[in-house]
Amino acid sequence: MTDRYAVFGHPIAHSKSPLIHAAFARQTGQDLSYEAILAPLDGFAASIAAFAAAGGRGANVTVPFKEEAFRLADRLSPRAERAGAVNTLKFEPDGVLGDNTDGAGLVADLTRNLKRMIAGRRILLLGAGGAARGVIGPLLDEQPTTLVIANRTVGRAQDLAELFDHGIRACGFDALDSPFDLVVNATAASLAGELPPLSPQLFTPDTLAYDMMYGRDTPFLAFARAQGAATADGLGMLVEQAAEAFHLWRGTRPDTAPVIASLR
Ligand code: ATR
Repeated sequence: MTDRYAVFGHPIAHSKSPLIHAAFARQTGQDLSYEAILAPLDGFAASIAAFAAAGGRGANVTVPFKEEAFRLADRLSPRAERAGAVNTLKFEPDGVLGDNTDGAGLVADLTRNLKRMIAGRRILLLGAGGAARGVIGPLLDEQPTTLVIANRTVGRAQDLAELFDHGIRACGFDALDSPFDLVVNATAASLAGELPPLSPQLFTPDTLAYDMMYGRDTPFLAFARAQGAATADGLGMLVEQAAEAFHLWRGTRPDTAPVIASLR
């Protein structure tokens, strides 16, 4: 019988994950199916349970269920524990394993696809919600010289900095006016077509501005480009986090480059 996987979210119709995992399966010769499932806002746990009971082997979890998936898992990987959220579930005989591959996906895209160093570099992370929290641990593991978290609500950035306790500086957007090597936008501003109020001086021609959103040019990327910075959207991160999930489920790592290229 074909092994079943799915991504759960709300909304979910526009998810690229089924396409990505179908490409991985073809490439690695694995017999599996992968579908997108719309879970009711008050029915995530029930949807997951029904899928597992019907023979599901694993699931990806997206907005707004990542924190609920964290609570639902019987066991957590260390990186899911640090992220406080789960984007990948694996249904095992002795219970549900929760993992988080988002941060690893970002780091893989930055270092392998975009050929950017994080080690020894100055990193600015914009936002202090779930998306930001999910990538802090893997970014820190790369040993940047500085990691600054800037957020509209400064208190949330401070809470995150304390949680990770790694000499992270937390501040508001207006407290920043010197250049960074990498600026990662993990705010929801791009979703609303908005630009966080950033100083142009954060960006130089050596800066990479990275928006975790994908699929369209964002005001953040346009602003960074106007200052001469290089830019990248989150499509590579999406494919890399999927590859990391695929590896957890299937024990084999697909080649992401052709999949990213075909999605572009
Ligand atoms: P997510 O899981 O996507 O991170 P979240 O936990 O709701 O969602 O967090 C949204 C993040 O985007 C927060 O950092 C939020 O800032 P606040 O903590 O001040 O609310 C940020 N955000 C949302 N809209 C924004 C905007 N228009 N400008 C700047 N930051 C914005």
